[in-house]
Amino acid sequence: LFAGPVDFVKGVVAMDGLPPADRPEVCFAGRSNVGKSSLINALTGRKSLARASNTPGRTQEINYFALGQHGYLVDLPGYGFAKAPVAVVAKWQALLKNYLAGRPTLRRAFALIDSRHGIKDVDHEIMRLLDRSAVPFQVVLTKADKIGPRAMEATVAQVTDELQKHPAAYPELVLTSSDTGRGVAALRAIIAGLE
Ligand code: GTP
Ligand code: MG
Repeated sequence: LFAGPVDFVKGVVAMDGLPPADRPEVCFAGRSNVGKSSLINALTGRKSLARASNTPGRTQEINYFALGQHGYLVDLPGYGFAKAPVAVVAKWQALLKNYLAGRPTLRRAFALIDSRHGIKDVDHEIMRLLDRSAVPFQVVLTKADKIGPRAMEATVAQVTDELQKHPAAYPELVLTSSDTGRGVAALRAIIAGLE
């Protein structure tokens, strides 16, 4: 699945701009700056396919990347970015909600959580949305390189516990670092298995 070419398809700002639902897709959701775009780059082995940035809220569209004809990786706009204008935030939220509820080819959502921070209120909000939309989701802990094993254990315990509140959640977490590559092959294998 990841052996062939990967191409940026388009940035989508409204539901009618989505590409035809003709192949399986997975999406990456999470707070601004959690590392969604960096993880897509790590997964595809392309340094700057998805635009990663220090500026939270960099990705403001639903960005589609094609794995040849076989599937899409979907980079969602980050949520919980307080500095964006209210009207802009409302528009993203509506798009996100409509996308998650109305995309028949969406096989799994990856809910990205910063290893250092664990699950926050806004994460629960998106997970509730995934529950309501019956989109199976799996938590990916990001930036694993930034904390030691003890702190990681604590995060894993907190997240595992909190996930019990979410019926659409898979209990298994994936621990990743886009910097060191930890967990990236494992995540690739999960995605390849969804086809
Ligand atoms: P938005 O598009 O704003 O929602 O952010 P995003 O979730 O796409 O985050 P992005 O990938 O742009 O990463 C945000 C910042 O975190 C960047 O400065 C990245 O270099 C950094 N970062 C991402 N992943 C990792 C990681 O695994 N380890 C470390 N140390 N830094 C990371
Ligand atoms: Mg991004």
